[in-house]
Amino acid sequence: MTELANDVLLRALLCEKVERTPVWIMRQAGRYLPEYRELREQAGDFMSLCSNPDLACEVTLQPLRRFKLDAAILFSDILTIPNAMGLGLYFEAGEGPRFERPVRSPSDIKNLRQPDVEKELGYVFEAVRTIRRELNGSVPLIGFAGSPWTVATYMVEGRSSRDFATIKGLAAENPAALSSLLDIVARTTIDYLNGQVAAGAQAIMIFDTWGAALAADDYRRFSLASMQKIVDGLIREHDGRIVPLILFTKGAGPLLSDMAETGCDALGVDWTTDLATAREHVADKVALQGNLDPATLRESPATIRQGVADVLESYGTGPGHVFNLGHGITPDIDPEHLGVLVDAVHELSPKYHR
Ligand code: CP3
Repeated sequence: MTELANDVLLRALLCEKVERTPVWIMRQAGRYLPEYRELREQAGDFMSLCSNPDLACEVTLQPLRRFKLDAAILFSDILTIPNAMGLGLYFEAGEGPRFERPVRSPSDIKNLRQPDVEKELGYVFEAVRTIRRELNGSVPLIGFAGSPWTVATYMVEGRSSRDFATIKGLAAENPAALSSLLDIVARTTIDYLNGQVAAGAQAIMIFDTWGAALAADDYRRFSLASMQKIVDGLIREHDGRIVPLILFTKGAGPLLSDMAETGCDALGVDWTTDLATAREHVADKVALQGNLDPATLRESPATIRQGVADVLESYGTGPGHVFNLGHGITPDIDPEHLGVLVDAVHELSPKYHR
């Protein structure tokens, strides 16, 4: 077993006793940091950062040099999988991700092949190994992937969408074709995440950003069912330690109780459900991660501290809480404000663990 100087995140995700609440932030490496913007400028574009293990490592470590964070998260993207399937990912300045060859028809779906992840995504595994070496046992490294449903929304729509018209049309008219698309993405994701674990990822998170765009029954049938396949297919122990698994459906609300039944270890919670309510839904079966509204980071240090205090109080006493925002930090945030948040968690959380 590799020694880890700070394993408070891993213990909290398994609902073990901790001295204080661990904290990390979704998108903690990203555009709100001037040093990130500078490196991206040098690299040319976002995918050049992801596909170069040394640059991906450098970006991953940037926020850890500034803040007392309890984890690093691999710098990559959920769309590396469809890119490896040959859809041609590119980023249009200011427009978000696009695919040159979206998957539209049942025959497009039939023609999809499951990529060899070692061959097509080996650069990600190399980034994981590089980051683990550089972290040198200081804090754990979180690996991740998108949920099959969320990844499929980009594959079918070809870009970010507001209404998901095309993929919802597919769900209504040809649910079997959609299921087979979700299945090939799920199988690839299992190989991909197991590759990350083998390379050294010490916890895994699945981002289901768009699951709550579905009606509850469709959510269970398309999004949750495909995440369940991943939960069942993942390596859950490596190098003598459990590799905790976090599921995050943004806007899950009352669906959190279904998610808690999958066998995952923890659930991400956004700010639209307070943690006290979420805790009732899941009956302490899983740990909870969240859930300060990212907008709070635009406010004064006093307001940020109060926001942290309110989130800690909402979860209450006892183990099983990981502090985070309810969604990713936005590019307009002053990095010093994130420092205020992180310091407040360190200062205010020990009393909930006595
Ligand atoms: O959290 C982290 O620090 C790890 C890195 C990470 C990125 N994307 C880097 C990134 C993670 C975990 C993701 C996940 C991701 N990617 C999700 C799910 C999480 C979420 O936020 O809901 C989604 C939906 C994507 C797809 C994606 N990638 C979009 C929609 C965009 C454009 C976003 C935007 O705000 O313009 C990306 C690009 C992307 N991924 C950036 C970063 C830092 C911005 C790239 C840049 O311009 O430098």
